[in-house]
Amino acid sequence: MTESAQAFISPLTFQALSGHPVGTRLLDEDQEHVMGHISLARWADSVLVAPATANCIAKFSHGLSDDLVSTLVLAATCPVFIAPAMNQAMWNKAVTQENVARLNRDGFRFIGPASGEQACGEIGYGRMAEPDVICETLSRFFCHCDLSGKKVLISAGPTREPIDPVRFITNRSSGKMGYAIAEAAIEAGGIVTLVSGPVALPPPKYCQIINVESAAQMHEAVMASAPNSDVYIGAAAVADYSPNTHQPEKIKKIENTLILELFKTRDILAEVAALPVQRPFTVGFAAETHDLERYAKDKLAKKNVDMIAANWVGKDQGGFDRDQNALQVYWKGGGKQLEMTDKTQLARQLINLIAEKMNEKNTN
Ligand code: CTP
Repeated sequence: MTESAQAFISPLTFQALSGHPVGTRLLDEDQEHVMGHISLARWADSVLVAPATANCIAKFSHGLSDDLVSTLVLAATCPVFIAPAMNQAMWNKAVTQENVARLNRDGFRFIGPASGEQACGEIGYGRMAEPDVICETLSRFFCHCDLSGKKVLISAGPTREPIDPVRFITNRSSGKMGYAIAEAAIEAGGIVTLVSGPVALPPPKYCQIINVESAAQMHEAVMASAPNSDVYIGAAAVADYSPNTHQPEKIKKIENTLILELFKTRDILAEVAALPVQRPFTVGFAAETHDLERYAKDKLAKKNVDMIAANWVGKDQGGFDRDQNALQVYWKGGGKQLEMTDKTQLARQLINLIAEKMNEKNTN
């Protein structure tokens, strides 16, 4: 943190929020035996300066190094990202623009600034890019897999099968895995369409989202987009059965027993995999309480999909409505275990694997 930054927020707040030590001084008695700024510069995979003031940018552009931040930036050999934040007139000044152009030439990467209302009340370019946009940009930079420009269709969440206007049948899917896969596909440069059943999750940014309720609606939405997609990932827990004559009026509590007749829903995954032309690379999920490998391999063959990601569900076994999961992934002639980790990491690993197998299929 620079001195100006510390005038706004104390280092202790950042330390508490991040759980990491906060560097503030160029000459730190505790760090000097290892040359604090040099060891930080060597350690980092990237440096992000956010918010970067006009003064910071001017210093970086001229190689000044009179505090920890500017010295670190000068010593860094890794990629340096800069998220400018300043008054719009300061941003537009020729001297600032010259500094920015020089840093751009030297390989610095700018994130933003964004346009809009500023702290000073003026409107224009100079607002710091939103923190999630900054994170997203960094994530994309570090993602080694390549779905750049690929159209990725993903289904997520549960479906709700209506019984009458107030009741429905559903399942325990939270949609977390499907949403994490959508985020990972976006990070990998994919153009993502997410067909989502009802979930309590914020929609991922930078993707088209189509909200549906029932298996029939999900079928319609997926089949409309699938022929125009490069990949379909069926992460939704689609109801296998539905009361297909849903009552227009609330069922009254008259009889002692009530029998619901359920009919098989259409298998979206199998239908996508059976598309005669413009068939996307098709990835299914298998949620199993027993015989995971056998059922997963069965589904791979029966549904004729390119890949099946199988996971254990049920008591104490990860899967539904948890933040962590593990996957056993199978494709024709191979498989890979993705160990228990949080769903964000797991989704990235799965997307990497999908990109790899898609490339292999396209080059064969
Ligand atoms: N699936 C689908 N349409 C359905 C049912 C399931 O597209 N009507 C997809 C899911 O999105 C998932 C895969 O099929 O990718 C596996 O779902 P799962 O319920 O585990 O398998 P089923 O084929 O339904 O078989 P079973 O329930 O007997 O295990």
